[in-house]
Amino acid sequence: MKNTEHELFQPFQLGPLVLKNHIVMAPLTRSRASEGDVPTEMNAEYYAQRASAGLIISEATNISQQGKGYAFTPGIYTQEQIAGWKLVTDAVHKKGGLIFCQLWHVGRISHPSLQPNNELPVSASAVKPNQQAFTETGMQDCVTPRALELIEIPEIIEQYIHASKCAKEAGFDGVEIHAANGYLLQQFLGEKTNLRNDKYGGSIENRVRLTVEVTEAVCQIWESHRVGIRLSPVTPANDMDEDDPMDTYLYLAQKLNPLKLAYVHFVEGATGGARDIKPGFDFHKLHRAFDAVYMANNGYNLKLATDTLKHGDAELICFGRPFISNPDLVERLKRKIPLTPLDPKTLYTRGPEGYTDYPTVT
Ligand SMILES: Cc1cc2nc3c(=O)[nH]c(=O)nc-3n(C[C@H](O)[C@H](O)[C@H](O)COP(=O)(O)O)c2cc1C
Repeated sequence: MKNTEHELFQPFQLGPLVLKNHIVMAPLTRSRASEGDVPTEMNAEYYAQRASAGLIISEATNISQQGKGYAFTPGIYTQEQIAGWKLVTDAVHKKGGLIFCQLWHVGRISHPSLQPNNELPVSASAVKPNQQAFTETGMQDCVTPRALELIEIPEIIEQYIHASKCAKEAGFDGVEIHAANGYLLQQFLGEKTNLRNDKYGGSIENRVRLTVEVTEAVCQIWESHRVGIRLSPVTPANDMDEDDPMDTYLYLAQKLNPLKLAYVHFVEGATGGARDIKPGFDFHKLHRAFDAVYMANNGYNLKLATDTLKHGDAELICFGRPFISNPDLVERLKRKIPLTPLDPKTLYTRGPEGYTDYPTVT
């Protein structure tokens, strides 16, 4: 049931979890995992510093080597990675925080140098993104991916199942399925990136199928009240460009509602960019169509967050960039203390600079 009366700084019941407030830390890739894509003590410190958020969503985390598209990003499919994430989840829990793992398969937004045996990245169809990949030797053009064979689809679902089990073992409080920002699941959802003529392509029903099957599979590992999904229907990120995605997402709502997910997380507009919405697209309509808690993201500040909750346009507000440079964002918002601006030069560098050394006021 939706309760629109909550205020930003008051607790929120998310399924079985009590969030300290309505503020969520967005998934933020920082490319600081160690060899073997293993999280470290430094990563644990970074997340623990931000544990005053009602909920932290981890940086996007590769569910397999095939799912990897960015150098130095963490995985959640080996024992070493589980042990690394355990440092993070323990540190967050010790500070009274909650953390979900964002499960990531990049699909075509990768490069052979990041793939097993330097193979081609995979996607719904062999459609080349006009995009570069962040490899260990710098930015390189993405290549034309290989379309997944029909018999390979169960292997993709198996990757999500395995990663979900690993996330549980690593002590996460739940998982978020990354179906946004032009990665594999959105490549299946989109009609320009999915040119398949089997049961995973063509009609809306078919394009939505993989996302639904993945979500159902993840809900067999985690109780569904601990599973969220991230969607970005109108983003141009990673060369997505849908003319009229509304019906696709309304249909997705119909298929996901019976699963009783914890939340649906929307990037409203261009990820990290304009909040302008294409004519004909309506997030309010999606809010009504999805039974789950609506988590809103993209360009939120205190005023927009407060107004949005007041008007009942969302139940939870997710902040990304402000959390990078303000570990104590919640306190700063509460006390109306000016925010520290982020340093773009250190977003994806390897060390603690611009990572664990942003100041707090408390
Ligand atoms: C450095 C950086 C890394 C990001 N990494 C991820 C990610 O791993 N997963 C994801 O879904 N979105 C990612 N995003 C998008 C953010 O989660 C968020 O949608 C975006 O920054 C807009 O929210 P904001 O205006 O509050 O920053 C990233 C954004 C930035 C700036």
